[in-house]
Amino acid sequence: MKSVQIAIDGPSGAGKSTMAKLLSKRLGFMYLDTGAMYRALALKAIRMNIDTKDREKVIELLPSLDIKISYKDGNQVILLDGEDVSEKIRTEQVSMGASDVSAIPEVREKLVKMQQEIASDNNVVMDGRDIGTHVLPNAQVKIFLTASVYERAKRRYNELKEKGLLTKTYDELVKEIETRDYNDSHRSVSPLRRADDAVLLDTSKLSIEETVDEIIKIIKMKGFDNVI
Ligand code: DC
Repeated sequence: MKSVQIAIDGPSGAGKSTMAKLLSKRLGFMYLDTGAMYRALALKAIRMNIDTKDREKVIELLPSLDIKISYKDGNQVILLDGEDVSEKIRTEQVSMGASDVSAIPEVREKLVKMQQEIASDNNVVMDGRDIGTHVLPNAQVKIFLTASVYERAKRRYNELKEKGLLTKTYDELVKEIETRDYNDSHRSVSPLRRADDAVLLDTSKLSIEETVDEIIKIIKMKGFDNVI
Protein backbone atom coordinates (compact mmCIF):
# COMPACT_ATOMS: atom_id res chain seq x y z
CA MET A 1 0.00 0.00 0.00
CA LYS A 2 1.15 3.54 -0.71
CA SER A 3 2.49 5.27 2.41
CA VAL A 4 0.26 7.75 4.21
CA GLN A 5 1.65 11.21 4.91
CA ILE A 6 0.12 13.61 7.39
CA ALA A 7 1.37 17.20 7.26
CA ILE A 8 0.81 19.51 10.21
CA ASP A 9 1.74 23.15 9.70
CA GLY A 10 1.06 26.31 11.63
CA PRO A 11 2.65 29.13 13.62
CA SER A 12 4.91 28.75 16.68
CA GLY A 13 3.26 27.37 19.77
CA ALA A 14 0.05 26.16 18.12
CA GLY A 15 0.72 22.67 19.49
CA LYS A 16 1.97 21.08 16.27
CA SER A 17 4.73 19.00 17.85
CA THR A 18 2.55 17.78 20.69
CA MET A 19 -0.14 16.78 18.21
CA ALA A 20 2.21 15.19 15.72
CA LYS A 21 3.85 13.15 18.47
CA LEU A 22 0.54 11.94 19.93
CA LEU A 23 -0.88 11.12 16.51
CA SER A 24 2.20 9.22 15.41
CA LYS A 25 2.03 7.10 18.59
CA ARG A 26 -1.66 6.46 18.10
CA LEU A 27 -1.28 5.54 14.42
CA GLY A 28 2.10 3.80 14.70
CA PHE A 29 3.53 6.25 12.18
CA MET A 30 6.97 7.75 12.08
CA TYR A 31 7.18 11.29 13.49
CA LEU A 32 9.34 14.17 12.31
CA ASP A 33 9.48 17.57 13.99
CA THR A 34 11.22 19.55 11.24
CA GLY A 35 11.61 22.70 13.38
CA ALA A 36 14.18 20.78 15.46
CA MET A 37 16.45 20.65 12.41
CA TYR A 38 16.40 24.45 11.92
CA ARG A 39 16.95 24.79 15.65
CA ALA A 40 19.99 22.47 15.59
CA LEU A 41 21.60 24.55 12.85
CA ALA A 42 20.89 27.73 14.84
CA LEU A 43 22.49 26.15 17.92
CA LYS A 44 25.57 25.27 15.91
CA ALA A 45 25.87 28.87 14.68
CA ILE A 46 25.36 30.33 18.17
CA ARG A 47 28.00 28.01 19.63
CA MET A 48 30.46 29.18 16.99
CA ASN A 49 29.64 32.85 17.72
CA ILE A 50 28.12 33.25 14.27
CA ASP A 51 25.31 35.78 13.97
CA THR A 52 22.27 33.74 12.81
CA LYS A 53 21.29 36.68 10.59
CA ASP A 54 24.64 36.53 8.77
CA ARG A 55 23.61 34.56 5.68
CA GLU A 56 27.07 33.98 4.27
CA LYS A 57 28.49 32.66 7.54
CA VAL A 58 25.47 30.40 8.10
CA ILE A 59 25.71 29.03 4.56
CA GLU A 60 29.38 28.21 5.20
CA LEU A 61 28.25 25.87 7.98
CA LEU A 62 26.08 23.75 5.69
CA PRO A 63 28.64 21.42 4.07
CA SER A 64 29.83 20.17 7.47
CA LEU A 65 26.37 20.18 9.08
CA ASP A 66 25.88 16.83 10.78
CA ILE A 67 22.28 16.43 11.93
CA LYS A 68 20.81 13.01 12.63
CA ILE A 69 17.37 12.02 13.80
CA SER A 70 16.75 8.98 15.97
CA TYR A 71 13.99 7.85 18.31
CA LYS A 72 14.04 6.89 21.98
CA ASP A 73 10.87 5.55 23.64
CA GLY A 74 8.90 6.92 20.71
CA ASN A 75 10.33 10.43 21.14
CA GLN A 76 12.45 12.16 18.53
CA VAL A 77 16.09 12.66 19.47
CA ILE A 78 18.15 15.12 17.45
CA LEU A 79 21.90 14.70 17.23
CA LEU A 80 24.17 17.56 16.25
CA ASP A 81 27.70 16.38 15.47
CA GLY A 82 26.80 13.23 17.39
CA GLU A 83 25.62 15.09 20.51
CA ASP A 84 22.01 14.79 21.72
CA VAL A 85 20.81 18.43 21.64
CA SER A 86 17.07 17.70 21.94
CA GLU A 87 16.74 19.84 25.08
CA LYS A 88 19.41 22.45 24.30
CA ILE A 89 17.56 23.59 21.16
CA ARG A 90 14.49 24.67 23.17
CA THR A 91 15.80 27.99 24.54
CA GLU A 92 14.37 31.32 23.37
CA GLN A 93 17.75 32.32 21.93
CA VAL A 94 17.75 29.23 19.72
CA SER A 95 14.09 29.84 18.78
CA MET A 96 14.92 33.28 17.42
CA GLY A 97 18.06 31.96 15.71
CA ALA A 98 16.06 29.16 14.06
CA SER A 99 13.62 31.72 12.67
CA ASP A 100 16.63 33.61 11.18
CA VAL A 101 18.35 30.61 9.60
CA SER A 102 15.08 29.20 8.24
CA ALA A 103 14.74 32.29 6.03
CA ILE A 104 17.93 31.39 4.10
CA PRO A 105 17.09 29.58 0.81
CA GLU A 106 20.25 27.40 0.86
CA VAL A 107 19.39 26.23 4.38
CA ARG A 108 15.85 25.30 3.37
CA GLU A 109 17.04 23.48 0.28
CA LYS A 110 19.35 21.27 2.32
CA LEU A 111 16.98 20.57 5.21
CA VAL A 112 13.92 20.00 2.99
CA LYS A 113 15.87 17.39 1.03
CA MET A 114 16.78 15.61 4.28
CA GLN A 115 13.14 15.74 5.40
CA GLN A 116 11.89 14.29 2.13
CA GLU A 117 14.44 11.48 2.34
CA ILE A 118 13.37 10.62 5.88
CA ALA A 119 9.70 10.57 4.82
CA SER A 120 10.12 8.50 1.69
CA ASP A 121 8.36 5.16 1.87
CA ASN A 122 7.28 5.66 5.49
CA ASN A 123 3.90 6.38 6.98
CA VAL A 124 4.73 9.69 8.57
CA VAL A 125 3.36 12.58 10.61
CA MET A 126 5.53 15.61 9.93
CA ASP A 127 5.19 19.04 11.49
CA GLY A 128 6.64 22.37 10.42
CA ARG A 129 5.73 25.48 8.43
CA ASP A 130 5.99 24.34 4.82
CA ILE A 131 5.19 20.63 5.00
CA GLY A 132 1.86 20.78 3.16
CA THR A 133 3.06 23.43 0.71
CA HIS A 134 6.62 22.26 -0.06
CA VAL A 135 8.08 19.27 1.73
CA LEU A 136 5.19 16.85 1.19
CA PRO A 137 2.90 18.59 -1.32
CA ASN A 138 1.17 15.26 -2.01
CA ALA A 139 0.43 14.48 1.64
CA GLN A 140 -3.04 12.92 1.82
CA VAL A 141 -3.91 14.73 5.06
CA LYS A 142 -2.92 18.36 5.63
CA ILE A 143 -3.77 20.25 8.77
CA PHE A 144 -3.08 23.90 9.52
CA LEU A 145 -3.05 24.21 13.29
CA THR A 146 -3.37 27.63 14.84
CA ALA A 147 -4.32 29.42 18.08
CA SER A 148 -4.42 33.04 19.23
CA VAL A 149 -1.07 34.71 20.02
CA TYR A 150 -2.13 35.08 23.69
CA GLU A 151 -3.03 31.41 24.04
CA ARG A 152 0.24 30.38 22.38
CA ALA A 153 2.27 32.68 24.66
CA LYS A 154 0.46 31.24 27.68
CA ARG A 155 1.31 27.68 26.61
CA ARG A 156 4.94 28.61 25.95
CA TYR A 157 5.17 30.36 29.34
CA ASN A 158 3.87 27.28 31.14
CA GLU A 159 6.11 24.93 29.16
CA LEU A 160 9.27 26.96 29.86
CA LYS A 161 8.32 27.32 33.52
CA GLU A 162 7.81 23.59 33.86
CA LYS A 163 11.23 22.92 32.33
CA GLY A 164 12.90 25.55 34.54
CA LEU A 165 13.89 27.51 31.42
CA LEU A 166 11.75 30.58 31.99
CA THR A 167 13.75 33.78 31.56
CA LYS A 168 11.04 36.02 30.03
CA THR A 169 7.81 37.59 31.17
CA TYR A 170 4.51 36.63 29.55
CA ASP A 171 4.41 39.99 27.70
CA GLU A 172 7.91 39.42 26.33
CA LEU A 173 6.84 36.01 25.06
CA VAL A 174 3.82 37.59 23.32
CA LYS A 175 6.19 40.03 21.57
CA GLU A 176 8.59 37.24 20.58
CA ILE A 177 5.81 35.09 19.16
CA GLU A 178 4.51 38.07 17.19
CA THR A 179 8.01 38.71 15.82
CA ARG A 180 8.50 35.05 14.85
CA ASP A 181 5.03 34.89 13.26
CA TYR A 182 5.90 37.96 11.23
CA ASN A 183 9.34 36.60 10.17
CA ASP A 184 7.97 33.15 9.35
CA SER A 185 5.10 34.47 7.25
CA HIS A 186 6.96 37.27 5.47
CA ARG A 187 10.21 35.61 4.42
CA SER A 188 10.63 35.29 0.68
CA VAL A 189 11.20 31.53 0.59
CA SER A 190 8.45 29.12 1.69
CA PRO A 191 6.69 31.56 3.98
CA LEU A 192 4.28 30.10 6.50
CA ARG A 193 0.96 29.77 4.74
CA ARG A 194 -1.92 27.36 4.71
CA ALA A 195 -1.89 24.97 1.75
CA ASP A 196 -5.08 25.34 -0.29
CA ASP A 197 -6.05 21.79 0.59
CA ALA A 198 -5.19 21.99 4.31
CA VAL A 199 -7.91 21.89 6.93
CA LEU A 200 -7.73 24.85 9.33
CA LEU A 201 -8.00 23.93 13.00
CA ASP A 202 -8.02 26.65 15.68
CA THR A 203 -6.99 25.12 19.01
CA SER A 204 -7.37 28.26 21.19
CA LYS A 205 -10.31 26.77 23.04
CA LEU A 206 -9.46 23.08 22.63
CA SER A 207 -7.63 20.81 25.06
CA ILE A 208 -4.91 18.47 23.76
CA GLU A 209 -7.35 15.52 23.79
CA GLU A 210 -10.03 17.52 21.95
CA THR A 211 -7.50 18.55 19.33
CA VAL A 212 -6.38 14.94 18.78
CA ASP A 213 -10.05 13.92 18.42
CA GLU A 214 -10.62 16.66 15.83
CA ILE A 215 -7.59 15.55 13.83
CA ILE A 216 -8.71 11.90 13.96
CA LYS A 217 -12.08 13.07 12.60
CA ILE A 218 -10.30 14.85 9.74
CA ILE A 219 -8.22 11.74 8.94
CA LYS A 220 -11.42 9.64 8.86
CA MET A 221 -13.18 12.26 6.76
CA LYS A 222 -10.35 11.94 4.23
CA GLY A 223 -11.12 8.21 3.98
CA PHE A 224 -8.20 6.83 6.01
CA ASP A 225 -10.27 4.95 8.59
CA ASN A 226 -8.05 1.95 7.91
CA VAL A 227 -4.98 3.55 9.52
CA ILE A 228 -6.72 4.48 12.76
O1 DC B 1 8.43 24.66 15.04
P1 DC B 1 9.63 25.35 15.69
O2 DC B 1 9.25 26.48 16.61
O3 DC B 1 10.53 24.35 16.37
O4 DC B 1 10.47 25.98 14.48
C1 DC B 1 11.64 26.73 14.69
C2 DC B 1 11.82 27.73 13.54
O5 DC B 1 12.08 27.03 12.32
C3 DC B 1 10.58 28.62 13.28
O6 DC B 1 10.92 29.97 13.41
C4 DC B 1 10.18 28.35 11.86
C5 DC B 1 11.24 27.49 11.29
N1 DC B 1 10.71 26.34 10.56
C6 DC B 1 10.55 26.46 9.20
O7 DC B 1 10.80 27.51 8.64
N2 DC B 1 10.11 25.40 8.48
C7 DC B 1 9.82 24.24 9.07
N3 DC B 1 9.40 23.21 8.34
C8 DC B 1 9.94 24.12 10.48
C9 DC B 1 10.38 25.20 11.20
